Amino acid sequence: MTTILVTGGAGYIGSHTVIELVKAGYEPVIFDNFYNSKPAVLARINKIVGRTVPFVSGDIRSREQLEQVFENYKIDAVINFAGLKAVGESVKKPLEYYDNNVNGARTLLSVMKAYGCKNFIFSSSATVYGEPDSLPLTENSPVKRANCPYGQTKVDIEYMCQELQIADPSFSMVLLRYFNPVGAHESGLIGEDPRGIPNNLMPYLTQVAVGRLKELSVFGNDYPTADGTCVRDYIHVVDLALGHVAALNHCLNVPGTHIYNLGTGIGYSVLDMVKSFSKAIGRELPYKFAPRRAGDVVACYADPSKAKAELGWVAKKTLDDMTADSYNWQKNNPNGYED
Ligand code: NAD
Ligand code: WQD
Repeated sequence: MTTILVTGGAGYIGSHTVIELVKAGYEPVIFDNFYNSKPAVLARINKIVGRTVPFVSGDIRSREQLEQVFENYKIDAVINFAGLKAVGESVKKPLEYYDNNVNGARTLLSVMKAYGCKNFIFSSSATVYGEPDSLPLTENSPVKRANCPYGQTKVDIEYMCQELQIADPSFSMVLLRYFNPVGAHESGLIGEDPRGIPNNLMPYLTQVAVGRLKELSVFGNDYPTADGTCVRDYIHVVDLALGHVAALNHCLNVPGTHIYNLGTGIGYSVLDMVKSFSKAIGRELPYKFAPRRAGDVVACYADPSKAKAELGWVAKKTLDDMTADSYNWQKNNPNGYED
C-alpha cells in the first residue's frame, strides 16, 4: 500500500483529491488544522469512498505534529495543499501568509527529509506567471515577482523546492500550477465552501443562484477581450484531482523537479461563465457591470500539453459540467458544510 500524506486534505481541492487517490488504490492520510475547512467534510469523503480515510488534526508549521505522523505512518509521498489562499487578505496580513505558506512548506520538507520521504507535490498556481507576456502560458513562460504576498509565497516555495532538489537529487518535486479550479464532486456531497462573501467568481455565482447574494458584479467590461470581460482557464476540480494522481505516479518514479500547468487550455470570459451558469439554473443569472478589480490580469490560459505528454493527463470536463456541478453542490448545501 502506497501511503500519501495529504496536508490540507480537508479543503476544497484536497478533499476531491483524496477521493481520487482512494479510487486509484492509494492510501491517503489527511492532515489539516481546519483553518479554512470544516470537520464535516471528513464524513462526506468517507461516504463517497465507502470507508474511513485516516485523519490527523495538525498544523504544517508544527514539527512535532508532523513528526508524529511520520512515526505513525510510513509515508511514501506528500501532497501539500495546506496554505492560505485569499489574495486580498494576504495584502493585509503578509506575515501570516509567509508564515503559514512558506514556513509551513519549509517545516514540512525538513521533516520529510529527516524521515527519508523524498516525494513532494506542491499546489502552485498560474499566479506565478503574473500578467502574461504571451498566451497560452507554457511552463517556460517567465515566473515573475507576484503582485501580492499570496502569489509571492507560491513563487518562493517553488524556488525553495527546486533549490532543495538540487542540494538533494534524490528528491522528486512536482510543482503543479493550477489555473482556475471550479466545480464540485458529482455526488453534490463535497464542494467549495468559502468563509464569508466569496472573492472568487464561481462561489459568488453559486451563492447568487441560491439567493444568498443578490447579483453578480462583473468586474470590468472594457478589457481588450472579445466581450470586454477577463478571460480565465477554468478547470473542473475533479480533473484537477486526477492531475494529482497522474503526477503522483510520475513523482514516485522519476526524481527531479517537474513543473506542470494544470488547465484545460481554453479561455472563457466572465460573461461566458454567466451564460453557462444561467443554462445550469434554467434562468438568467442576475448581474451588473462594475469597475475593474485591482490586480486582475486581462487573460490567462494554459498550454497543458506538457502534462499530457509526460503524465498522460488531460482535463476532460466541459464548462457546462463545471457550472452544473458547482450549482448542484450549492443547491444541496445552501449554507455549505454548516447544514
Ligand atoms: P482550501 O482553503 O479549501 O484548502 C486548504 C486547506 O489547508 C484547508 O482545509 C485549511 O484548513 C488547511 N490549512 C491551511 N493552513 C494549514 C496549516 N498551516 N496546517 C494544516 N492545514 C492547513 O484551499 P484550496 O482551494 O483547496 O487550495 C488548496 C491549495 O491549492 C492551496 O495551497 C492554494 O493556495 C492552492 N491553489 C488554489 C487555487 C484555487 O483557486 N482554489 C488556485 C491555485 C492554487
Ligand atoms: C475570475 C474572474 C474577476 C468575482 C484567483 C487568484 C489566483 C488563483 C485563483 C490561487 C476575474 C471576475 C470575480 C466577482 C467578477 N488562486 N470576477 N466578479 O482572480 O483569476 O484568480 O483565484 O492561486 O491566484 O487570484 O479568480 O475567481 O477571483 O476571478 O467579475 O465577484 O472573475 O475579475 O476576471 P482569479 P477569480
